[in-house]
Amino acid sequence: MKSKAHYKRVLLKLSGEALMGDKTYGISPDTVAFMASEIKKAEELDVEIAIVIGGGNIFRGVQASVKGIERASADYMGMLATVINALALQNALEKLDLQTRVQSAIEMKELAESYIRRKAIRHLEKGRVVIFAAGTGNPYFTTDTAAALRAMEIGADIILKGTKVDGIYTSDPVKDKDARMFEEISYLEVIKKQLRVMDTTAITLCMENNLPIVVFNIATADNIRNILLGKKIGTLVRNTLN
Ligand code: GTP
Repeated sequence: MKSKAHYKRVLLKLSGEALMGDKTYGISPDTVAFMASEIKKAEELDVEIAIVIGGGNIFRGVQASVKGIERASADYMGMLATVINALALQNALEKLDLQTRVQSAIEMKELAESYIRRKAIRHLEKGRVVIFAAGTGNPYFTTDTAAALRAMEIGADIILKGTKVDGIYTSDPVKDKDARMFEEISYLEVIKKQLRVMDTTAITLCMENNLPIVVFNIATADNIRNILLGKKIGTLVRNTLN
């Protein structure tokens, strides 16, 4: 049966905090199980899914560097945190009988495959969910940038960026009751207005390669599935004519 989905291959970006649930630190098993069930609903639409996951629920490199840990060391610690999250998510996905592979940008053979672009694409073609761990493998790059880079490398049609809020707002909706959500916005506007959806490096990479991004609330059930079915959820970031 032909898939009803609007996309063939997508890259899902999850922040580490998305695994925290209502805790302030670490991994909530219930929340990871929820994320896995959301991903399964997407996989059932015959969409190839790659995932980049952050590590902020365990270690925040930038904040640690402000407090005196050398930036490069702090970033490597953050990359290790993403590996912990990747293994947690892999476990939850496998409990739902999904086929998965974790590929790490930093070689750690005993616990994950190393990142090999062509192999990742092969896994996706075989219907496996591929989780990319350890960011880009380089300090000074965020996991958002890793998401943009990997999305380009595997030829994803779109980046699905899961967040705590429903989309991109004119200002912080938690602090400003008049904040308005954009249905659609250009990369340049995101950069000019400093909307902090993703860091500038990630946004610029997407802009230069014409890769659309949907920013949406990851905690809302069925959001991923509905986006894949073409429903208007969250904010779409792409090149516009004006
Ligand atoms: P195909 O042969 O293309 O179907 O892919 P495959 O991933 O099933 O084949 P492979 O024989 O490479 O992998 C079998 C299992 O070993 C999978 O679960 C892989 O994730 C795992 N695996 C492969 N390479 C490594 C590695 O370098 N380190 C670790 N820890 N596991 C690996």
